[in-house]
Amino acid sequence: MRAYDLIRKKRDGGTLSPQELQHLVWGATSGGIADEQLSAFLMAVFFRGMDPVHELPAWLDAMLHSGQVLDLSGIPGRKVDKHSTGGVGDKISLPLAPLVAVCGVKVPMVSGRGLGHTGGTLDKLESIPGFSTQLSIARFAELVNRLGLCLIGQTAEIAPADRKLYALRDATATVESVPLIASSILSKKLAEGIDGLVLDVKVGRGAFMKTLADAQVLARTMVDLCKAVGRGCVALLTDMDVPLGRAVGNAVEVAESIEVLRGGGPDDVRELTLQLGAEMLLLGGAPGVEGDPKLARLRLETALANGSALKRFGELIDAQGGDARVIDDLSRLPKPKKVREVRAKGSGTLVELDAELVGLASVDLGAGRARKEDPVDHAAGLLLRMRVGDAVRAGDVLAELHAADEAKLDAGEARFLSAVKLGDGPVLPRPLILDRLS
Ligand code: URA
Repeated sequence: MRAYDLIRKKRDGGTLSPQELQHLVWGATSGGIADEQLSAFLMAVFFRGMDPVHELPAWLDAMLHSGQVLDLSGIPGRKVDKHSTGGVGDKISLPLAPLVAVCGVKVPMVSGRGLGHTGGTLDKLESIPGFSTQLSIARFAELVNRLGLCLIGQTAEIAPADRKLYALRDATATVESVPLIASSILSKKLAEGIDGLVLDVKVGRGAFMKTLADAQVLARTMVDLCKAVGRGCVALLTDMDVPLGRAVGNAVEVAESIEVLRGGGPDDVRELTLQLGAEMLLLGGAPGVEGDPKLARLRLETALANGSALKRFGELIDAQGGDARVIDDLSRLPKPKKVREVRAKGSGTLVELDAELVGLASVDLGAGRARKEDPVDHAAGLLLRMRVGDAVRAGDVLAELHAADEAKLDAGEARFLSAVKLGDGPVLPRPLILDRLS
Protein backbone atom coordinates (compact mmCIF):
# COMPACT_ATOMS: atom_id res chain seq x y z
CA MET A 1 0.00 0.00 0.00
CA ARG A 2 1.40 3.43 -0.91
CA ALA A 3 0.61 6.52 1.13
CA TYR A 4 0.63 8.49 -2.14
CA ASP A 5 -2.34 6.51 -3.49
CA LEU A 6 -4.30 6.92 -0.25
CA ILE A 7 -3.75 10.69 -0.23
CA ARG A 8 -4.90 10.90 -3.84
CA LYS A 9 -7.98 8.79 -3.14
CA LYS A 10 -9.01 11.03 -0.22
CA ARG A 11 -8.14 14.18 -2.19
CA ASP A 12 -10.49 13.06 -4.96
CA GLY A 13 -13.36 12.32 -2.58
CA GLY A 14 -12.99 8.53 -2.37
CA THR A 15 -13.82 6.37 0.65
CA LEU A 16 -10.86 4.61 2.28
CA SER A 17 -11.16 1.03 3.48
CA PRO A 18 -10.44 0.07 7.13
CA GLN A 19 -7.13 -1.50 5.98
CA GLU A 20 -6.11 1.72 4.22
CA LEU A 21 -6.98 3.82 7.26
CA GLN A 22 -5.08 1.40 9.52
CA HIS A 23 -2.05 1.75 7.25
CA LEU A 24 -2.05 5.54 7.67
CA VAL A 25 -2.37 5.27 11.47
CA TRP A 26 0.44 2.69 11.49
CA GLY A 27 2.54 5.16 9.46
CA ALA A 28 1.90 7.92 12.02
CA THR A 29 2.77 5.71 14.99
CA SER A 30 5.84 3.98 13.56
CA GLY A 31 7.27 6.84 11.51
CA GLY A 32 6.82 4.62 8.45
CA ILE A 33 5.04 7.39 6.54
CA ALA A 34 6.75 10.76 6.01
CA ASP A 35 5.39 13.87 7.78
CA GLU A 36 4.67 15.62 4.48
CA GLN A 37 2.49 12.72 3.33
CA LEU A 38 0.63 12.52 6.65
CA SER A 39 0.13 16.30 6.52
CA ALA A 40 -1.21 16.12 2.98
CA PHE A 41 -3.62 13.38 4.03
CA LEU A 42 -4.82 15.52 6.97
CA MET A 43 -5.42 18.44 4.61
CA ALA A 44 -7.36 16.17 2.27
CA VAL A 45 -9.54 15.09 5.23
CA PHE A 46 -9.94 18.74 6.22
CA PHE A 47 -11.58 19.44 2.83
CA ARG A 48 -13.23 16.08 2.09
CA GLY A 49 -14.23 14.95 5.60
CA MET A 50 -14.63 11.29 6.56
CA ASP A 51 -17.60 9.03 5.93
CA PRO A 52 -19.31 8.69 9.34
CA VAL A 53 -20.23 5.03 8.75
CA HIS A 54 -17.56 3.57 6.46
CA GLU A 55 -14.46 5.54 7.54
CA LEU A 56 -14.69 7.31 10.88
CA PRO A 57 -15.30 4.29 13.19
CA ALA A 58 -12.43 2.38 11.53
CA TRP A 59 -10.13 5.42 11.77
CA LEU A 60 -11.02 5.86 15.47
CA ASP A 61 -10.49 2.16 16.13
CA ALA A 62 -7.03 2.30 14.54
CA MET A 63 -6.10 5.48 16.49
CA LEU A 64 -7.37 3.98 19.76
CA HIS A 65 -5.36 0.79 19.22
CA SER A 66 -2.18 2.63 18.18
CA GLY A 67 -1.12 2.34 21.84
CA GLN A 68 -2.14 0.90 25.17
CA VAL A 69 -5.86 0.34 25.80
CA LEU A 70 -6.52 -0.10 29.49
CA ASP A 71 -8.45 -3.18 30.47
CA LEU A 72 -10.48 -2.37 33.58
CA SER A 73 -12.93 -5.24 32.99
CA GLY A 74 -11.67 -6.98 36.14
CA ILE A 75 -12.96 -4.09 38.24
CA PRO A 76 -16.64 -4.56 39.10
CA GLY A 77 -19.14 -1.92 38.00
CA ARG A 78 -19.47 0.33 35.00
CA LYS A 79 -16.84 2.96 34.33
CA VAL A 80 -17.86 6.34 32.99
CA ASP A 81 -15.81 9.47 32.33
CA LYS A 82 -16.56 13.06 31.36
CA HIS A 83 -14.74 15.11 28.75
CA SER A 84 -14.98 18.87 28.33
CA THR A 85 -13.89 20.50 25.09
CA GLY A 86 -12.25 23.16 27.24
CA GLY A 87 -13.22 26.42 28.80
CA VAL A 88 -12.35 29.20 31.22
CA GLY A 89 -12.95 28.52 34.90
CA ASP A 90 -14.00 24.98 33.98
CA LYS A 91 -13.04 23.07 37.14
CA ILE A 92 -16.02 20.70 36.95
CA SER A 93 -13.94 17.50 36.85
CA LEU A 94 -12.66 18.19 40.38
CA PRO A 95 -16.00 18.13 42.24
CA LEU A 96 -17.64 15.81 39.68
CA ALA A 97 -15.30 12.79 39.83
CA PRO A 98 -15.53 12.17 43.63
CA LEU A 99 -19.26 12.99 43.62
CA VAL A 100 -20.05 10.42 40.93
CA ALA A 101 -17.70 7.84 42.48
CA VAL A 102 -19.34 8.07 45.89
CA CYS A 103 -22.72 7.50 44.18
CA GLY A 104 -21.53 4.16 42.81
CA VAL A 105 -20.15 4.73 39.29
CA LYS A 106 -16.40 4.30 38.72
CA VAL A 107 -14.54 7.24 37.17
CA PRO A 108 -11.17 6.47 35.55
CA MET A 109 -10.11 9.94 34.40
CA VAL A 110 -7.11 10.71 32.17
CA SER A 111 -6.90 14.48 31.84
CA GLY A 112 -4.87 17.13 30.04
CA ARG A 113 -3.03 20.36 30.79
CA GLY A 114 -4.09 23.89 30.01
CA LEU A 115 -3.05 25.52 26.76
CA GLY A 116 -3.80 29.01 25.49
CA HIS A 117 -6.74 30.65 27.24
CA THR A 118 -8.19 27.35 28.56
CA GLY A 119 -7.15 25.68 31.81
CA GLY A 120 -6.39 22.00 32.39
CA THR A 121 -7.42 19.63 35.16
CA LEU A 122 -3.85 18.38 35.77
CA ASP A 123 -2.47 21.88 36.45
CA LYS A 124 -5.30 22.53 38.89
CA LEU A 125 -4.80 19.25 40.77
CA GLU A 126 -1.04 19.78 40.97
CA SER A 127 -1.62 22.99 42.91
CA ILE A 128 -2.56 20.74 45.85
CA PRO A 129 0.79 20.30 47.65
CA GLY A 130 2.28 16.86 46.88
CA PHE A 131 -0.48 15.73 44.49
CA SER A 132 0.90 13.44 41.76
CA THR A 133 -0.79 12.93 38.41
CA GLN A 134 1.95 10.60 37.16
CA LEU A 135 0.90 7.21 38.55
CA SER A 136 1.56 3.78 37.08
CA ILE A 137 -1.33 2.14 35.26
CA ALA A 138 -1.40 -0.56 37.99
CA ARG A 139 -1.84 2.08 40.70
CA PHE A 140 -4.45 3.87 38.56
CA ALA A 141 -6.50 0.66 38.29
CA GLU A 142 -6.07 -0.05 42.02
CA LEU A 143 -7.45 3.37 42.98
CA VAL A 144 -10.35 3.11 40.51
CA ASN A 145 -11.20 -0.22 42.16
CA ARG A 146 -10.73 0.91 45.78
CA LEU A 147 -11.93 4.53 45.73
CA GLY A 148 -14.01 4.50 42.55
CA LEU A 149 -11.86 7.14 40.88
CA CYS A 150 -8.37 8.23 39.93
CA LEU A 151 -7.16 11.29 38.00
CA ILE A 152 -3.93 11.06 36.04
CA GLY A 153 -2.15 12.61 33.06
CA GLN A 154 -1.87 11.07 29.65
CA THR A 155 0.94 8.56 29.35
CA ALA A 156 3.19 8.21 26.31
CA GLU A 157 1.59 4.81 25.66
CA ILE A 158 -1.97 6.11 25.19
CA ALA A 159 -2.95 6.86 21.55
CA PRO A 160 0.55 7.70 20.23
CA ALA A 161 -0.86 8.17 16.71
CA ASP A 162 -2.89 11.10 18.00
CA ARG A 163 0.18 12.76 19.51
CA LYS A 164 1.92 12.64 16.14
CA LEU A 165 -1.11 13.68 14.08
CA TYR A 166 -2.13 16.45 16.48
CA ALA A 167 1.34 18.01 16.24
CA LEU A 168 1.11 17.91 12.43
CA ARG A 169 -2.40 19.39 12.49
CA ASP A 170 -1.19 22.16 14.77
CA ALA A 171 1.53 23.05 12.25
CA THR A 172 -0.63 22.72 9.11
CA ALA A 173 -3.86 24.57 10.02
CA THR A 174 -5.88 21.34 10.07
CA VAL A 175 -6.98 21.30 13.72
CA GLU A 176 -10.49 22.63 12.92
CA SER A 177 -11.84 19.51 11.24
CA VAL A 178 -14.80 17.83 12.95
CA PRO A 179 -13.86 14.19 12.13
CA LEU A 180 -10.25 14.83 13.18
CA ILE A 181 -11.28 16.53 16.44
CA ALA A 182 -13.83 13.83 17.27
CA SER A 183 -11.44 10.95 16.60
CA SER A 184 -8.57 12.69 18.43
CA ILE A 185 -10.59 13.26 21.61
CA LEU A 186 -12.27 9.85 21.58
CA SER A 187 -9.06 7.90 20.85
CA LYS A 188 -7.60 9.17 24.13
CA LYS A 189 -10.76 8.91 26.23
CA LEU A 190 -11.80 5.43 25.07
CA ALA A 191 -8.29 4.11 25.76
CA GLU A 192 -9.15 4.51 29.48
CA GLY A 193 -11.27 1.37 29.25
CA ILE A 194 -14.59 3.15 29.92
CA ASP A 195 -18.11 1.87 29.19
CA GLY A 196 -19.58 5.32 28.69
CA LEU A 197 -18.64 8.96 28.21
CA VAL A 198 -20.43 12.21 29.00
CA LEU A 199 -19.31 15.10 26.80
CA ASP A 200 -19.45 18.72 27.85
CA VAL A 201 -19.22 20.55 24.54
CA LYS A 202 -18.58 24.20 25.28
CA VAL A 203 -20.14 26.92 23.13
CA GLY A 204 -19.25 30.62 22.95
CA ARG A 205 -16.47 33.17 23.04
CA GLY A 206 -14.25 31.18 25.41
CA ALA A 207 -14.81 27.85 23.59
CA PHE A 208 -13.29 26.02 20.68
CA MET A 209 -16.75 26.09 19.03
CA LYS A 210 -18.04 29.66 18.90
CA THR A 211 -21.58 28.93 17.65
CA LEU A 212 -24.27 26.52 18.79
CA ALA A 213 -24.61 25.16 15.24
CA ASP A 214 -20.87 24.26 15.07
CA ALA A 215 -20.97 22.72 18.55
CA GLN A 216 -24.02 20.64 17.57
CA VAL A 217 -22.18 19.22 14.55
CA LEU A 218 -19.17 18.26 16.71
CA ALA A 219 -21.36 16.81 19.48
CA ARG A 220 -23.49 14.80 17.03
CA THR A 221 -20.36 13.39 15.38
CA MET A 222 -18.80 12.41 18.72
CA VAL A 223 -21.97 10.87 20.17
CA ASP A 224 -22.63 8.81 17.02
CA LEU A 225 -18.98 7.76 16.73
CA CYS A 226 -18.79 6.70 20.37
CA LYS A 227 -21.93 4.61 19.94
CA ALA A 228 -20.61 3.14 16.67
CA VAL A 229 -17.70 1.66 18.63
CA GLY A 230 -20.01 0.26 21.29
CA ARG A 231 -19.86 2.76 24.15
CA GLY A 232 -22.64 4.82 25.68
CA CYS A 233 -22.45 8.56 25.10
CA VAL A 234 -24.40 11.70 25.93
CA ALA A 235 -23.41 15.31 25.17
CA LEU A 236 -24.47 18.47 26.96
CA LEU A 237 -23.79 21.69 25.06
CA THR A 238 -23.04 24.35 27.64
CA ASP A 239 -22.41 28.08 27.70
CA MET A 240 -18.82 29.38 27.56
CA ASP A 241 -19.45 32.99 26.58
CA VAL A 242 -18.60 33.94 30.16
CA PRO A 243 -16.26 32.16 32.60
CA LEU A 244 -17.70 29.35 34.70
CA GLY A 245 -17.90 30.29 38.37
CA ARG A 246 -15.86 33.04 40.00
CA ALA A 247 -12.37 31.48 40.09
CA VAL A 248 -10.02 31.24 37.08
CA GLY A 249 -6.55 29.78 37.65
CA ASN A 250 -5.26 26.77 39.52
CA ALA A 251 -5.28 26.91 43.36
CA VAL A 252 -8.25 29.32 43.21
CA GLU A 253 -10.21 26.75 41.16
CA VAL A 254 -9.35 23.96 43.60
CA ALA A 255 -10.68 26.15 46.43
CA GLU A 256 -13.91 26.79 44.50
CA SER A 257 -14.29 23.06 43.78
CA ILE A 258 -13.94 22.27 47.49
CA GLU A 259 -16.65 24.84 48.21
CA VAL A 260 -18.95 23.00 45.81
CA LEU A 261 -18.14 19.70 47.55
CA ARG A 262 -18.96 21.39 50.87
CA GLY A 263 -22.45 22.06 49.48
CA GLY A 264 -21.85 25.71 48.43
CA GLY A 265 -19.95 27.35 45.57
CA PRO A 266 -21.26 29.43 42.66
CA ASP A 267 -24.67 28.37 41.31
CA ASP A 268 -23.44 27.65 37.76
CA VAL A 269 -20.57 25.40 38.90
CA ARG A 270 -22.85 23.47 41.24
CA GLU A 271 -25.60 23.16 38.63
CA LEU A 272 -23.31 21.93 35.85
CA THR A 273 -21.69 19.45 38.25
CA LEU A 274 -25.15 18.07 39.11
CA GLN A 275 -26.33 17.93 35.48
CA LEU A 276 -23.19 16.18 34.20
CA GLY A 277 -23.17 13.96 37.28
CA ALA A 278 -26.77 12.86 36.69
CA GLU A 279 -25.88 11.90 33.10
CA MET A 280 -22.93 9.87 34.39
CA LEU A 281 -25.05 8.05 36.98
CA LEU A 282 -27.63 7.20 34.30
CA LEU A 283 -25.01 5.99 31.79
CA GLY A 284 -23.27 4.03 34.53
CA GLY A 285 -26.48 2.40 35.82
CA ALA A 286 -25.84 3.71 39.34
CA PRO A 287 -27.40 1.59 42.10
CA GLY A 288 -30.75 2.91 43.37
CA VAL A 289 -31.19 5.35 40.49
CA GLU A 290 -33.32 3.08 38.27
CA GLY A 291 -32.60 5.15 35.16
CA ASP A 292 -34.55 8.08 36.65
CA PRO A 293 -32.93 11.54 36.24
CA LYS A 294 -34.76 12.88 39.32
CA LEU A 295 -33.43 10.06 41.50
CA ALA A 296 -29.94 10.59 40.06
CA ARG A 297 -30.00 14.27 40.97
CA LEU A 298 -31.34 13.54 44.45
CA ARG A 299 -28.53 11.10 45.06
CA LEU A 300 -25.93 13.62 43.99
CA GLU A 301 -27.46 16.40 46.09
CA THR A 302 -27.47 14.11 49.12
CA ALA A 303 -23.77 13.27 48.64
CA LEU A 304 -22.95 16.99 48.52
CA ALA A 305 -25.11 17.77 51.56
CA ASN A 306 -23.86 14.93 53.79
CA GLY A 307 -20.16 15.51 53.09
CA SER A 308 -19.51 12.06 51.59
CA ALA A 309 -18.32 13.47 48.23
CA LEU A 310 -15.93 15.87 50.00
CA LYS A 311 -14.60 13.01 52.13
CA ARG A 312 -13.98 10.94 48.99
CA PHE A 313 -12.06 13.83 47.42
CA GLY A 314 -9.87 13.94 50.54
CA GLU A 315 -9.23 10.18 50.27
CA LEU A 316 -8.27 10.60 46.62
CA ILE A 317 -5.89 13.46 47.39
CA ASP A 318 -4.25 11.35 50.11
CA ALA A 319 -3.96 8.30 47.81
CA GLN A 320 -2.34 10.44 45.09
CA GLY A 321 0.27 11.81 47.52
CA GLY A 322 -1.33 15.18 48.21
CA ASP A 323 -2.06 17.07 51.41
CA ALA A 324 -5.68 16.08 52.10
CA ARG A 325 -5.93 18.66 54.88
CA VAL A 326 -6.75 21.22 52.15
CA ILE A 327 -10.36 20.04 52.16
CA ASP A 328 -10.78 21.53 55.66
CA ASP A 329 -8.17 24.25 55.42
CA LEU A 330 -7.97 26.14 52.11
CA SER A 331 -5.04 28.21 53.44
CA ARG A 332 -2.83 25.16 52.74
CA LEU A 333 -3.14 25.87 48.99
CA PRO A 334 -0.37 27.97 47.36
CA LYS A 335 -0.68 31.70 48.08
CA PRO A 336 0.16 34.47 45.60
CA LYS A 337 3.05 36.86 46.29
CA LYS A 338 1.03 39.80 44.96
CA VAL A 339 -2.71 40.56 45.00
CA ARG A 340 -4.41 43.49 43.25
CA GLU A 341 -8.01 44.60 43.08
CA VAL A 342 -9.24 45.77 39.68
CA ARG A 343 -11.74 48.60 39.97
CA ALA A 344 -14.42 49.73 37.52
CA LYS A 345 -13.62 52.92 35.60
CA GLY A 346 -17.30 53.73 34.98
CA SER A 347 -20.83 52.79 36.04
CA GLY A 348 -23.53 50.61 34.48
CA THR A 349 -24.63 47.02 34.21
CA LEU A 350 -21.95 44.41 33.54
CA VAL A 351 -23.26 43.24 30.17
CA GLU A 352 -20.24 41.26 28.94
CA LEU A 353 -17.29 39.45 30.46
CA ASP A 354 -15.55 37.87 27.49
CA ALA A 355 -14.46 34.38 28.58
CA GLU A 356 -11.55 34.18 26.12
CA LEU A 357 -10.08 37.49 27.30
CA VAL A 358 -10.53 36.53 30.96
CA GLY A 359 -8.71 33.26 30.18
CA LEU A 360 -5.91 35.20 28.50
CA ALA A 361 -5.73 37.51 31.54
CA SER A 362 -5.15 34.45 33.73
CA VAL A 363 -2.34 33.37 31.35
CA ASP A 364 -0.82 36.88 31.64
CA LEU A 365 -0.95 36.48 35.43
CA GLY A 366 1.05 33.23 35.14
CA ALA A 367 -1.74 30.66 35.66
CA GLY A 368 -1.65 29.20 32.12
CA ARG A 369 0.66 28.55 29.22
CA ALA A 370 1.09 30.26 25.88
CA ARG A 371 3.29 27.33 24.71
CA LYS A 372 3.13 23.62 25.65
CA GLU A 373 6.50 23.66 27.43
CA ASP A 374 5.84 26.74 29.62
CA PRO A 375 5.61 26.23 33.41
CA VAL A 376 2.50 27.41 35.29
CA ASP A 377 2.29 29.33 38.56
CA HIS A 378 -0.17 27.42 40.73
CA ALA A 379 -0.84 30.44 42.95
CA ALA A 380 -1.70 32.75 40.02
CA GLY A 381 -5.22 33.47 38.77
CA LEU A 382 -8.18 35.67 39.44
CA LEU A 383 -11.41 35.85 41.40
CA LEU A 384 -14.41 37.56 39.84
CA ARG A 385 -16.13 39.87 42.31
CA MET A 386 -18.78 40.92 39.76
CA ARG A 387 -20.59 38.77 37.24
CA VAL A 388 -22.68 39.48 34.15
CA GLY A 389 -25.94 41.21 35.11
CA ASP A 390 -24.51 42.89 38.22
CA ALA A 391 -24.91 46.65 38.70
CA VAL A 392 -21.49 48.33 38.86
CA ARG A 393 -20.52 51.77 40.15
CA ALA A 394 -17.25 53.51 39.30
CA GLY A 395 -14.61 52.35 41.79
CA ASP A 396 -16.31 49.01 42.59
CA VAL A 397 -13.98 46.00 42.70
CA LEU A 398 -14.53 43.88 39.57
CA ALA A 399 -11.93 41.22 40.30
CA GLU A 400 -9.01 40.23 42.50
CA LEU A 401 -5.84 39.32 40.59
CA HIS A 402 -3.14 36.95 41.92
CA ALA A 403 0.40 36.86 40.48
CA ALA A 404 4.08 36.63 41.34
CA ASP A 405 5.04 40.22 40.41
CA GLU A 406 3.75 43.66 39.47
CA ALA A 407 4.54 43.29 35.74
CA LYS A 408 2.26 40.25 35.54
CA LEU A 409 -0.43 42.12 37.48
CA ASP A 410 -0.16 45.05 35.01
CA ALA A 411 -0.53 42.75 32.00
CA GLY A 412 -3.36 40.78 33.62
CA GLU A 413 -5.22 43.95 34.64
CA ALA A 414 -5.06 45.49 31.14
CA ARG A 415 -6.31 42.29 29.55
CA PHE A 416 -9.01 41.78 32.16
CA LEU A 417 -10.37 45.29 31.62
CA SER A 418 -10.57 44.61 27.87
CA ALA A 419 -12.96 41.70 28.69
CA VAL A 420 -15.37 43.94 30.59
CA LYS A 421 -18.25 45.78 28.93
CA LEU A 422 -20.62 48.01 30.89
CA GLY A 423 -23.98 48.97 29.40
CA ASP A 424 -27.52 50.04 30.23
CA GLY A 425 -30.36 48.08 31.67
CA PRO A 426 -30.89 44.52 32.73
CA VAL A 427 -29.24 41.51 31.06
CA LEU A 428 -31.44 38.55 30.19
CA PRO A 429 -30.51 35.45 32.19
CA ARG A 430 -28.47 33.11 29.97
CA PRO A 431 -29.14 29.38 29.85
CA LEU A 432 -26.28 27.23 31.13
CA ILE A 433 -27.32 24.13 29.17
CA LEU A 434 -28.01 24.94 25.53
CA ASP A 435 -28.75 21.46 24.19
CA ARG A 436 -28.50 17.76 24.99
CA LEU A 437 -27.68 15.08 22.40
CA SER A 438 -27.83 11.33 22.92
N1 URA B 1 -8.57 18.39 21.70
C1 URA B 1 -8.05 17.22 21.30
O1 URA B 1 -7.65 16.40 22.11
N2 URA B 1 -7.97 16.96 19.98
C2 URA B 1 -8.40 17.82 19.05
O2 URA B 1 -8.32 17.54 17.90
C3 URA B 1 -8.93 19.06 19.48
C4 URA B 1 -9.01 19.32 20.83
